[in-house]
Amino acid sequence: MDALTAENISSGYGRSPIVRDVSLSAPSGKITTIVGPNGAGKSTFAKTLAGILRPSTGRILVNGVDITRVPGHLIPRHGLSYVPQNDNVFRTLTVKENLEVGGYPSKGDPRERMLQVFRVFPDLQKAQDKKAGNLSGGQQNLLAMARALMAEPSVIVLDEPTAGLSPAYTDIVWTQIGRIAGEGTAVLVIEQNVERALTHAQFVHVLVAGTNHAHGPVEEIAKLDLAGIFLGQDRTNSSASTTSTISSINH
Ligand SMILES: Nc1ncnc2c1ncn2[C@@H]1O[C@H](COP(=O)(O)OP(=O)(O)OP(=O)(O)O)[C@@H](O)[C@H]1O
Ligand SMILES: [Mg+2]
Repeated sequence: MDALTAENISSGYGRSPIVRDVSLSAPSGKITTIVGPNGAGKSTFAKTLAGILRPSTGRILVNGVDITRVPGHLIPRHGLSYVPQNDNVFRTLTVKENLEVGGYPSKGDPRERMLQVFRVFPDLQKAQDKKAGNLSGGQQNLLAMARALMAEPSVIVLDEPTAGLSPAYTDIVWTQIGRIAGEGTAVLVIEQNVERALTHAQFVHVLVAGTNHAHGPVEEIAKLDLAGIFLGQDRTNSSASTTSTISSINH
């Protein structure tokens, strides 16, 4: 069973859905990415997983438990933590205080968990008494990821954790994402940069105009003409629909 399974999700902000009939699964210990052009509905889908938006169709399962109707603030307790792209730390609190907030209410001993999280993010331990607002943008993104980990999630959903970062810091963030997956967490990352997604992920979903255009293991997605797909002129295989040519949703 995959840690995260989303089935036939339609979701949006008004009457007509932005995301239409999207299915996705994310296995434990692996990195799954969603790529797609601006406005494709990637963040809308992530917000739906996090319970910020209610889907009009479909269901969301974490470790086999249906969380579709669980209120957003209770979803972390069901094992799914979400890091939005912006405004993802409490700027006036210290690093340590941000982590304490992330660990509340905690499953085990929050101090023990913080030490575990510091083992994954040693630089944050050094900066633990700094105000989050005084960290660089990249450091704030790392703190947001670390805070989400405090809840010991089975699934962590990261919305463009490298947006606006320097190439050097982007590498650092991806290294950390790899370490989170290495600890056994299912990681779902929205990534603007296709090359980076293909470099780091094991599974890739291509979202175009709110629908799942293609998905599969990275080796298969790498064969597609993603630039053409993004521009709406798929030159990979003009006769076949890409989704149907790629291996099934159950990885
Ligand atoms: N709060 C909102 N209210 C109404 N429409 C919205 C809202 N947020 C996003 N949209 C619309 O939903 C569509 C998808 O937006 P979304 O932010 O999900 O795209 P995205 O794939 O995350 O894009 P980007 O790569 O630019 O982050 C867009 O047409 C956008 O205008
Ligand atoms: Mg977005």
